[in-house]
Order: sequence, then structure tokens, then C-alpha cells
Amino acid sequence: MSDEKFTTDIITLTRHVLDEQRKHKEASGDLSILLNAIQLGCKFVATNVRKARLLNLIGLAGGAQNFSGEEQKKLDVISNDIFINALRSSGKVSVMVSEENDEAIFVEEGLRGKYCVVFDPLDGSSNIDAGVNVGTIFGIYRVLKDSVGSVSDVLRPGREMVVAGYCMYGSSANMVISLGDGVNGYTLDNSIGEFILTHPNIQIPPRGKIYSVNEGNAKYWDEACTEYFHSLKFPPEGKSPYSARYIGSMVADVHRTLLYGGIFSYPSDKKSKNGKLRMLYECFPMAFLVEQAGGRATTGTKRVLDVIPESIHSRCPIFLGSKDDVEDVEKIFHKYN
Ligand code: AHG
Ligand code: MN
Ligand code: MN
Ligand code: MN
Repeated sequence: MSDEKFTTDIITLTRHVLDEQRKHKEASGDLSILLNAIQLGCKFVATNVRKARLLNLIGLAGGAQNFSGEEQKKLDVISNDIFINALRSSGKVSVMVSEENDEAIFVEEGLRGKYCVVFDPLDGSSNIDAGVNVGTIFGIYRVLKDSVGSVSDVLRPGREMVVAGYCMYGSSANMVISLGDGVNGYTLDNSIGEFILTHPNIQIPPRGKIYSVNEGNAKYWDEACTEYFHSLKFPPEGKSPYSARYIGSMVADVHRTLLYGGIFSYPSDKKSKNGKLRMLYECFPMAFLVEQAGGRATTGTKRVLDVIPESIHSRCPIFLGSKDDVEDVEKIFHKYN
């Protein structure tokens, strides 16, 4: 028998959230119920992603494009419906914003709650047909005082979020979440249907050796961006170049950056002046998590979490990861701005 202790005191995400809740006397338990709804959504999407090819769930949905002008995949639509139903029926949400809905969703009276959830139901969906890791990204705001739910509850800087997280669907389902007091990672044990704490207190290394960006856009980068990535590939004598890793699913690229360190970026360029990634349900939750893990996230000239979205699908450029690497980015951008 290996000396590995057989644990009979498993820490599930639900238990961890309840422990957190007990630290706040005024906590009503609403957030625990809301996070259970999100867990249900993630478990449901995880099984559908795993069976996608068997159930012919791959490929395009064949409907209209979403607000961002993207062809919706079948799994984009199914995942979106799963989350909307789970969040609405939790009775803890008043406003939802989804990548796949042009307008914000306002929950009807009787089912409204004190939270607003912004989410990307299926991130990296261009990779789904190739079986590459995809994920769900979410952020949670508390509704503003006396609000019954309006778009002003979510057109707020990311620093006002109370929870941020993602679930990555790969060889296992990995949930990474922050309630504003550090970052923890959980792995779904399919046999009991629970997310088990496997990565307590994730801390991103202060500097990494990996950069993650779509080099196919290099022709369109501005001078600051070009100079920064050049400095990683052609370092001064005696220093080794960084390695390049780019999966094309933000969840997977950020997950690796969180664990290994380094820099992930979707910069603005001549083709897309605000970059590609959407503030509310991609940049803000990932920036929140990276900061909570000791890293940083910048647009190049401004802290991502201080940016205020003009509309629910607004985009912003992002460089996130190890704090020393992000500081290098800002030093170069400072020269040009
Ligand atoms: P989504 O699948 O939710 O639309 O997001 C895709 C995003 C993000 O996951 C990834 O970082 C980025 O698109 C990749 O874009 P490129 O293929 O242009 O590099
Ligand atoms: Mn999309
Ligand atoms: Mn996405
Ligand atoms: Mn998506």
C-alpha cells in the first residue's frame, strides 16, 4: 500500500464556499446557491463537450452570428442555454450578460436575486471540433443599491466584481475561482460529481519563461507591441529567449500562465483597435484571477480592472501574467504613449 494517505475529509468547492460564507456574519448563503448553479452548468457543459463528437454536437449551429460577428457553434448555443436556465432558476441573479446574447438578460420579478453574472459559456469554441481544451469564463457583480437590474449594474470596472472564475474542459474539468481572497483550483471527480480542491492558493511565479500571443497578427502590431515581443525572442547576450505557447483558447492559455508564469496577450492592432477579447466576460474575470494570484493585467497603458466598459460587448487589449513580465510591457508602452 503506498504511503499516500486515503483522504476521508475531502474539501469540495461547495464546502470551501460555505467555509468562506461562515467568515462573513451577514452572509445569507445566496452566493453559495449561485455558485452551485454555476457548478451545475459547468458539469453539464463538461459532459456535453466530452461527448460532442458522439452526439454530433460539433460544428456550426447554422443560425445567425453573435454580436461579435462570430458563427455560433452548436455547443456555444447549448452551453449558453444551460447557463441561462441554471442561473435564472437559482433565484439569485437579476442581470445576465452572455457572449452569445446581443442584449443583457433581465430576470423576471419573483426570480430576481442580488447578483449579476457575466459569462462566456464556451470559450475557445473554434477549437471544439479538434478536441482542444475549451472552457467557461464567468464574473459576478453585486447589483447596485436599490437596483432591480439594469445594464448599469454591469457597465462597471472589473475591480468591482466579487467573484471571478473559469472552468476548463480538457482531460478533466478544472474549476479555478476567486471570491476576492486568493485563488483556488478544483478538479471534477466525475464519480461523485463534486469539484475537489486540488490547487489550493494558486500563486503565479513573479517572472516566467513563456509568452503566449497569436504571432499571425504580428504584421498588424503597433511599435510598442512589436518591440516587447522582439525583446523576448532576441534577449541581450547571456539571456535565453522565451518559449512560445499559444493554444487559441483563452481559458487554456491563461490556465497555463497562472500555473507556470509568463505572459499571455491579445493586443490591439491595426486590424482590431481594441483587440479581440471582450472586457466583461473574458478580460475582467481573467485579470481578477491573475491579480488575486499575485500577477498583473494591463491594456499596455492602464490596469485592465480599472477600465469601464461602454457597452456589454466592449473589447480591450490585454497583457496578463507574471508581475515582472507585465511591468516590462508597461515600461515599453510608456515609451510610446
Ligand atoms: P470564444 O471562443 O469565446 O469566442 O473566444 C475565443 C477567443 C479566446 O478564447 C482566444 O484567446 C482567442 O479567441 C483566440 O483568437 P485568435 O484565434 O484570433 O488568436
Ligand atoms: Mn465566440
Ligand atoms: Mn471567449
Ligand atoms: Mn465563447
